[in-house]
Amino acid sequence: MPLPSNSARNSAPTSAPGVHSPGFRFRCIACRDLSDSAGQNFRCAQCGDLLEITYPEWKENRPDAEQLKSAWRHRRLSGDAADLSGVWRFRELLPSLDSSEQAITLREGNTPLYELPQCARIVGVPRLFAKHQGMNPTGSFKDTGMTVAATFARRAGFRWVACASTGNTSASMAAYAARGGLRSLVLVPEGRISWSKLSQALDYGAVTCQLRTDFDGCLGLLQELVLHAPVYQLNSINPFRLEGQKTFAIELLEQLDWQPPDHIIVPGGNLGNSSAIGKALLEMHELGLIARLPKLSVIQAEGANALVRTLRETGGKTLVSVQAETRATAIRIGNPASWRKAVHVLEATGGACEQVSEIEIAQAKAEIGAEGIGCEPASAVTLAGLKKLVKQKFVRLDETVVLVLTGNLLKDPDYTIEFHRGELFREADSASALNSLRRPPVVLDATLDAVIGALDQAEKDKG
Ligand code: F0G
Repeated sequence: MPLPSNSARNSAPTSAPGVHSPGFRFRCIACRDLSDSAGQNFRCAQCGDLLEITYPEWKENRPDAEQLKSAWRHRRLSGDAADLSGVWRFRELLPSLDSSEQAITLREGNTPLYELPQCARIVGVPRLFAKHQGMNPTGSFKDTGMTVAATFARRAGFRWVACASTGNTSASMAAYAARGGLRSLVLVPEGRISWSKLSQALDYGAVTCQLRTDFDGCLGLLQELVLHAPVYQLNSINPFRLEGQKTFAIELLEQLDWQPPDHIIVPGGNLGNSSAIGKALLEMHELGLIARLPKLSVIQAEGANALVRTLRETGGKTLVSVQAETRATAIRIGNPASWRKAVHVLEATGGACEQVSEIEIAQAKAEIGAEGIGCEPASAVTLAGLKKLVKQKFVRLDETVVLVLTGNLLKDPDYTIEFHRGELFREADSASALNSLRRPPVVLDATLDAVIGALDQAEKDKG
């Protein structure tokens, strides 16, 4: 397929996307080399590792914490599009735009912080919160990063944006591209993403390629593609994505009146989100917005446990890739791109890394659902992981915990229906552990007696 020309096309394929702002620079996470621009693969020109965004101006001209808090609070009364965004409202901690009208926004962020009293009782902690990133416009946390990265793609003159995805990134990218007048190319593993997510990419007009490979294969191909075609990659390798995703933590702390929780627990896949949240915590601490750091812990599915193994087997020095397999398809990733960033934030905040089984994930998801909240399977690893961290006494019984629910329940309805019908796991023993949580639909004759009978049965089952 010939790619239409764009303003970046005349330059060499690996040339800088042309993004420069005096407010920020790119820094290599390994050799710390600083640069004003980044190549299309967002890797260090010196050593090839990933880049992050840094704000040297904060050294000489440190933003005042109280003024920031007050400005952010006042913007909640504003009707301006950038102020209505739960990302751009915090723009002092983001790469700067010439004008906030440049932002491609769908009013992302602004997500609720819920208490989970029933789950807190199950786990044994006094206060348990869930910040529900599944309440974003396309149903996942990806929107908070996408608004920033898509904005910078358009600002750099690109016509095409692209991503590899387990589904949520592609849904989000396609939406923001459509809103911003950009074209989008999606690479997803064939047969391994949920129909809900695929349908979003199609509806928002993406060119969608279902590749006969897994997510890691899709991402590898995308890395090559950006060196040969003028497409701007919007995976979380793109550091602008992570800057937007930082606002999760800023918004959370504002909701908690700047009193840090003891623990924040996040699912780990490609490890961009944990890196972003960790970066936000470290920056907020450095700027005096919070007095102490919460511990940030990452939970993975047992079948996609590259970070767990990397830490246990190499002390976080070398990535241990795995052949990923889990029904939590959003985190079915074996070769996480941002592993080094994640190791850094775990160490810097003193967090833990754990893995949970498929049955533990299903149980936790049903328990969150029973609170009237609901989430997708990848998000439920957080509650399953918390149970383990409590058993290990890493989380103490007097501590406050926030779970990051990354995706909406409706992202993967097949999983939920299979669970309640008892079709998710074939083994009889696993089924019995989950039986009390199952609420299968019943097919009845359309009579009063039949429905009253169903009510009576439900009362008996409960009692
Ligand atoms: N939860 C959900 C719902 C996700 O979609 C993802 C990642 C994660 C957790 C893990 O976040 O990769 O930053 O560690 N989904 C990506 C995608 C990979 O393509 O949608 P991570």
